[in-house]
Amino acid sequence: MQSFKIFVKGEWTTSQSGQTSDDLNPATEKLVATFQRGNEVDVGNAVDAAEEAFDSWSETPPPKRGDILLKVGRLLEENKESLAREMTEEMGKPLVEARGDVQEAIDMAEYMAGEGRRLLGHTTTSELHDKFAMTVKRPIGTVGIITPWNFPIAIPAWKIFPALICGDSVVFKPSSDTPRCAVRLVEILEKAGVPKGAVNLVTGPGNTVGTTLIKHPRVRAISFTGNRETGAEIIREAGIKRFGFELGGKNGAIIMDDADLDLALEGVVWGGFGTTGQRCTATSRVIIQEKIYKKFENMLVERVRKLKLGNGLEANTDVGPLINKSAQEKSANYVSIGISEGAKLLCGGKTPKMKGFFFEPTLFGECTIDMRIVQEEIFGPIVSLMQARDFDDAIQIINAVEYGLSASIYTASIRNAFKAVEEIEAGLVYVNAPTIGAEIHLPFGGVKHSGTTREAGIEGVNEFSETKTVYFDYSGRLQRAQIDR
Ligand code: UN1
Repeated sequence: MQSFKIFVKGEWTTSQSGQTSDDLNPATEKLVATFQRGNEVDVGNAVDAAEEAFDSWSETPPPKRGDILLKVGRLLEENKESLAREMTEEMGKPLVEARGDVQEAIDMAEYMAGEGRRLLGHTTTSELHDKFAMTVKRPIGTVGIITPWNFPIAIPAWKIFPALICGDSVVFKPSSDTPRCAVRLVEILEKAGVPKGAVNLVTGPGNTVGTTLIKHPRVRAISFTGNRETGAEIIREAGIKRFGFELGGKNGAIIMDDADLDLALEGVVWGGFGTTGQRCTATSRVIIQEKIYKKFENMLVERVRKLKLGNGLEANTDVGPLINKSAQEKSANYVSIGISEGAKLLCGGKTPKMKGFFFEPTLFGECTIDMRIVQEEIFGPIVSLMQARDFDDAIQIINAVEYGLSASIYTASIRNAFKAVEEIEAGLVYVNAPTIGAEIHLPFGGVKHSGTTREAGIEGVNEFSETKTVYFDYSGRLQRAQIDR
């Protein structure tokens, strides 16, 4: 049995706690490995190491930092298949999706390597004579990166790679459901030549490792993807820091009666049940125009019933397991809630009698906006269908939740499409495409309770750098802004 270590100051070591935890395969409930149950001391050591590394890392020319990231991308590429298999074994998603996860990290490595030759500031005018104004990007310092298990390589890459290109040093706390993926990513960073201490990995519980990291006075920024409640707690406890938060969603897809229904069907099934509904961007509400409601409901039920549950390593599996026992219980609980709220269970709804944390792909019909199954993030294979009278009603329904991460609209009307882009309260809007499938060179993030910032793309650079404003006065005399006009 493998036992994974933590990585502090360029050394793989055991935790000061002397304890380990178990890493389970959610499809078989078998032990994959054990990993270190890190503690406060480990985090303190990691922050010290990151600070020590910061001086020379932040002074390394960004294109040189980019060279290392390119190498990271190449190593990810060379190891793509084994990384994907290990990922499926550790967190359950079908192999094709796990390959996509690794590919997202490869893309991000290449993209951020290129950013090393830009890190753009801007120049602008001055209101005074003989004065020059511009902005430059500067590193932040030590950043704490806390990531979930649903994209166990991609999401850490979205955060660690931009942090590195910006010259920050990193303390990385991954989800306790996917420590092996985190170890594999850090091994690659080490192999590619990231200097000692610039990236540190501490595995372990949120209430020790995570809490110590967020409260640490010398950690200047926290980038976190996870649930809203944890995000709120971080804001309460972390003190003055920069926050980059991605806190989930309750994403809707609107299906207008002029839509290509076959296309919409594929999009809703992929958006709702891909990754077993365990994406922040998953389609969890489908808002269907009255006239086609019944027809589309029937199409969906027929299609969802055919989805094959199983181990993600098997080629014919459509939907893998949930991540753990408590996620499985949570989905079962939301089915009971939905039924008691009067939603109509159309298919699924049960915990199948098989080993592993599986749950049947589930559809609820005739849902209304006051229902908890329509308001709360479930993070499982449960999709609620609702009727809308017309376009305006659909927009009102899609916006009637506290989240605002991703949304989609299926329509043939250009006007509907543009009005939806204008009026939907979400960070991402897809036209005639599912709510999932963001690309790494565009900004990603949500409005309202879905988050505070954007990551990836050019905004990923903003998340991990400070903007410094610089004025050059070459007039040789005192000039007073706002006064000497
Ligand atoms: C997430 O679930 O937190 O757009 C991220 C998507 C993926 C990323 C999801 N590329 O669905």
